Amino acid sequence: MAKSNHYEIAVIPGDGTGPEVIAEGKKVLEAAGKKHDVSFEFHDYDFGGDRYLKTGETLPDSAAKELKRFKAIYLGAIGHPDVPPGVLEVGILLKLRFALDQYINLRPVKLYPGVDCPLKDKKPEDIDFIVVRENTGDMYAGQGGVTRKGTPYEVATQVMVYDRQMVDRCLKYAFDLARVRKEEGKPGKLTLVNKTNVLVYVGDLWYRAFMEMARDYPEIKTDYNHIDAACMWTVKNPEWYDVMVTTNMFGDIITDLGAMVQGGMGIAAGGNINPYGTSMFEPIGGSAPKYTGMNIINPLAAIEAGRMMLDHLGEKEAAKSIEEAVAYTCTQLKSLSAGKMGFSTTEVGDMVAGYINKK
Ligand code: IPM
Ligand code: MN
Repeated sequence: MAKSNHYEIAVIPGDGTGPEVIAEGKKVLEAAGKKHDVSFEFHDYDFGGDRYLKTGETLPDSAAKELKRFKAIYLGAIGHPDVPPGVLEVGILLKLRFALDQYINLRPVKLYPGVDCPLKDKKPEDIDFIVVRENTGDMYAGQGGVTRKGTPYEVATQVMVYDRQMVDRCLKYAFDLARVRKEEGKPGKLTLVNKTNVLVYVGDLWYRAFMEMARDYPEIKTDYNHIDAACMWTVKNPEWYDVMVTTNMFGDIITDLGAMVQGGMGIAAGGNINPYGTSMFEPIGGSAPKYTGMNIINPLAAIEAGRMMLDHLGEKEAAKSIEEAVAYTCTQLKSLSAGKMGFSTTEVGDMVAGYINKK
């Protein structure tokens, strides 16, 4: 077997239902790999709430460094009910995104046939777009501070931070993606989402950079929406979108809306991408601790994250076979919600893997 078809993958199953969905994701990756001559060696890491509660450690610097030797990380979920909010999110998830300079958060919004869509009269052909969320800047960058804390005069700031190269590298990724999608028969349209009517500095920086770069992509249609209007149009006319590019915070918010539009957290996945380094793929729904160990959580989001990982690694055929199997499975489930699927977590994983084996 060619060496390039073997991948060492770091796996962080994480908290709550994370390990259950990752187990199904690995099952499906193995099935697709077997079929397409791709093999994996998974290296498990135990970062998460339990480790933190035992050792007080979130993600040591040495671990972030060690993870750089992998091309990809497969992440279950981070979030533990006994740990105060923010500790694990900032200490593990955001730390990894920053340390590995995963400057793109790629989140597809695609409605598979047979999936219940909360939008009246919208069909799979109406909902097939992808959000390119910038993933290292904005209010997430940690600039700001607090003075007079605890007094009635407390002042807190958390600044929206962008510089030109951060904007340019994100826009380039988005334009290139729009180009690839156009080659695949999609509309080839890129919509910049921001708030230029208020963000007269940062919004203007994005807008000018966008317009300048558009000249290098004459075949790509471009559009601009304010973030509030984009939320409105995502509900009313999702068919207007092909690729959407936006800032970290706006992207965080609109991709939760996107997740609901495509049928819920049961199927929503994302990739934290460093095109030249280590990327990390995750279901975006969180650890859902109340369902832990019940074998009722939907593993499709984690399976979709695995599909995105294969696609990113260049294993297009293997990724496609997962996509077809997920599409089939969506027609078989009663619902995508935990406990209402009509099947258990492991049965859904078996169904996807079984479809790949049979085909
Ligand atoms: C996400 C999450 C994270 C974010 C949290 C958990 C820090 O909401 O991946 O969208 O805000 O990016
Ligand atoms: Mn979010």
